Amino acid sequence: MILVTGGAGYIGSHLVMSLLKRGEDVIVFDSLEIGHQETVETLKEYGNLKFVKGNLKNLDEIRGAFLGNRISAVVHFAAYSQVAESVNNPQKYYYNNVYGTMNLLNAMLEFGVKEIVFSSTAATYGEPEYTPIDEKHPQNPINPYGNTKLIIEKILDDYDRAYGLKSVRLRYFNAAGASSDSKIGELHEPETHLIPNVLKAENNKVFKMFGDDYDTKDGTCIRDYINVEDLAEAHIKALEYLNNGGKTDYFNLGTNTGSSVKEVFDICEKVKGEKIPLEVCPRREGDPAILIADNTKAKNILHWYPQKDLKYSVETAYNFIKSKS
Ligand code: UFG
Repeated sequence: MILVTGGAGYIGSHLVMSLLKRGEDVIVFDSLEIGHQETVETLKEYGNLKFVKGNLKNLDEIRGAFLGNRISAVVHFAAYSQVAESVNNPQKYYYNNVYGTMNLLNAMLEFGVKEIVFSSTAATYGEPEYTPIDEKHPQNPINPYGNTKLIIEKILDDYDRAYGLKSVRLRYFNAAGASSDSKIGELHEPETHLIPNVLKAENNKVFKMFGDDYDTKDGTCIRDYINVEDLAEAHIKALEYLNNGGKTDYFNLGTNTGSSVKEVFDICEKVKGEKIPLEVCPRREGDPAILIADNTKAKNILHWYPQKDLKYSVETAYNFIKSKS
C-alpha cells in the first residue's frame, strides 16, 4: 500500500488516480485545507482508496495512518506552495512544510517504512544562473517557500546517512493541465497560476499579464509547463526505482522547452475559441524571466519521458473548468 500525503490536492490526486488505475492500494492522508473531499470521492471510483483526514502538524494523526496499514512507500505532496504568502507569513510555511514533514519522517522511522518520493520544486534553484537548469545548478532559493523545500531535501540526505531512509526528490517546474477524462484538475482558492487564470478570465474578471518588458523573445516570462499526468508518471517511475534498490537522488521534471506567457495566452484563446480580455500589469515580484528544466537526468535514470504537449494541457484544463461550471 502506498501512502500519499496531500493526495486530495492538484498534483497528488493525479498520482493517486494513476496508482489506482494500476491496481495499487492507496491511502490518502490530507487535511482538506487545500485538497478537496469531492476529489477524494471521485478518486474512490478508480480503485481501492482509503482516506484519512489529518494534519501532518499532529504526530498522532499521521501515526494513525500508519497503524494497521501495510505501507511500503510514501509519496509526500502535502505542503503550502504560494510564494507570495510564504514571504508575508514564513512562520506558517516553516511550521507546516518543515515541521509537518519531520512528523511524517518520524512516523516512517517508527513504522519501518524506508522509501519516500518528495515533491520538491524549481523554486529551490532560485534566480537561474543558466538555462536549461540541470540538477548541478546551485540551489539558492529566493523565498521562504523554496527554503522550506530545500531544507527538507537536506533533511532527507541526513536521514539516509543516519537511518537508511531512501528518497527521490522531484523538482517540478510548472505543472499544467487536468486528467484526460476531465474528472480531476486544478482547484486552488485563490488561484494564482497562469493557465487557469487565463481560461477563467471574463469581461468583469480580466486576465492580468504580469509584465511584458522582460528580456525574452516577446517580453513576457518563459516557463516550462509540464503536464500533470506526465508528472504523475514520474512518481510511478520513482517508486519503481526505489523499490528496485535505487539510491537517494533528485531529478528535474520538465520538458526542456519554454513557453512565454503570451504564447500560453494565445493557446488558451485558440482552445477557448474566443477573445480573452487582457490587461498588461506591472511585473509580479520575484518572477525570474526564464525557467526551463534540463530533464536529461530523469530520462536517463528514471526512464521518464514526458508525452503530452502544452496544447493538450490547456485543452484538458479547459475541459475540467467547463465540467465544474
Ligand atoms: N502570470 C500572469 N498572470 C497570472 C498568473 C501568472 O501573468 O494571473 C505569469 C507569472 O508572472 C509568470 C507565469 O505567468 O511569469 C507563470 O506563473 P505561475 O504563477 O503559473 O507559475 P510560477 O512560475 O510563478 O510558479 C511555479 C509554481 C510554484 C513554484 C514556482 C517556482 O507554481 O509553486 O513555479 O519557480 F514555486
